[in-house]
Amino acid sequence: METRADGKKRQMKLSLFMTGDGNYHMAGWRLPSSNSDAGQNIQRWIDTAQALERAKIHMLFIADAASPPGTDDLETLSLTARIDRMDPVPILSAVAMMTKHIGLASTMSTTYLEPYNLARTVASLDHVSGGRAAWNIVTGSNKDDALQFNRDQHAPHAERYERAEEFVDVVRGIWDSYDDDAFPRDKESGVYMRPDKVHFLNHVGKYFKVRGPSAVPRSPQGHPVLVQAGSSEPGMNISARVADIVFTSQTTLESAKAFCDNLKGRCERFGRTPDDVLVMPGALLFMADTESEAKEKYDQLNSLIPLRVAMQRLQANLGGVDLSKYDLDAPLPDIKVNDARVSAVESYIAISRREGLTLRQMAMRSAAAKHHWTLVGSVKQVADELEAWFLGGGADGFNILPSDNPGAVDTLVNKLVPELQRRGLFRTEYEGKTLRENLGLRRPPDLSHRR
Ligand SMILES: Cc1cc2nc3c(=O)[nH]c(=O)nc-3n(C[C@H](O)[C@H](O)[C@H](O)COP(=O)(O)O)c2cc1C
Repeated sequence: METRADGKKRQMKLSLFMTGDGNYHMAGWRLPSSNSDAGQNIQRWIDTAQALERAKIHMLFIADAASPPGTDDLETLSLTARIDRMDPVPILSAVAMMTKHIGLASTMSTTYLEPYNLARTVASLDHVSGGRAAWNIVTGSNKDDALQFNRDQHAPHAERYERAEEFVDVVRGIWDSYDDDAFPRDKESGVYMRPDKVHFLNHVGKYFKVRGPSAVPRSPQGHPVLVQAGSSEPGMNISARVADIVFTSQTTLESAKAFCDNLKGRCERFGRTPDDVLVMPGALLFMADTESEAKEKYDQLNSLIPLRVAMQRLQANLGGVDLSKYDLDAPLPDIKVNDARVSAVESYIAISRREGLTLRQMAMRSAAAKHHWTLVGSVKQVADELEAWFLGGGADGFNILPSDNPGAVDTLVNKLVPELQRRGLFRTEYEGKTLRENLGLRRPPDLSHRR
């Protein structure tokens, strides 16, 4: 087994990627075994998290966008479960009460929220969960979000990232409002808080003016874990500067390795080491005991996707480009990159060229798996592939996308994890108390002393 620079054994990190309704495949909710009400059914979220915890999975991640996607075509949207999306933070707060170890990550957008609110919410989740909170920093891939927040259009890519850089600094500054020992809460002397341990941020920047201090004491992890999921040039820079975990969509070991090398190579520029950031590509698994059963499941799920749904989703995933004028059975045309989802558009085009897909086939592939790495095979075959990427320098772990829930989650927990454990690639116990400890990440120093 490989060892890290600090001499520790290197093992895979695993996260489960959940959407609002709990099924990543567009037709996942239609399988007889699926939880079609999982969006609102809090018990189902708890059951899922507890199952993951039994398998020692690092983190439950809930992806999010504030607005339902595709409401301009309600007929098509009505054939999907994508309208079903509760706010992840209350879900994770409830899950926190019924679990002990698993990390709890939510997406929150830097484009439409205010950093002070976000800092307070995530620090509160960190307290509520005893140090297990994580924030997935996104600039937002759903252009409809703009319409809920006083705007007519999604802000341009470059502007979103400029705002995101400043946003993250404000959040981290607010998290450092108090020294760790700022609250003696001494009943005898009557001193609840030490004024000399309080730090005002006094931030005045291009986008934000935030004085501080926070209403929440420094949280158990110091800083909740920072995840970043943009893979464009500015996305990689913000990852290299601040992220603890990077989610990315890569479909070959070669591209995954190039991404890892590129990202980790940038860390030094920001005073960080390659081990400070964990790269976890998405992996959508269609897995069963045998390869033929897995293929059967994949085909069955795909047969349940209406073409109009697939086309509408591809159109949205390509940033809203009009696909109606193109021949369905010709190769995917060269799409001018709309800046709503820069790196995603490039991945769709690369996949369609490499796999020789027509527009129709690309639409179906995108409704099944978006642009994520898709594995269809036996548990052993899937474990072989994950092992090859992990040992081949393409990943520190994986963000597993369950096609359906509980079906794919059960297979992950009861079959894949034991197989990875047998190979020594995955742990058999949680190592620490907080998510940072369980990921082998340092607790960040209190930056307020450096201001
Ligand atoms: C695994 C993964 C998860 C993501 N989750 C979300 C999400 O929950 N909400 C969102 O708006 N964007 C999400 N994104 C998209 C982005 O983070 C990013 O905002 C978008 O890709 C545009 O940035 P880029 O061009 O730098 O990639 C996700 C991307 C990946 C790869």
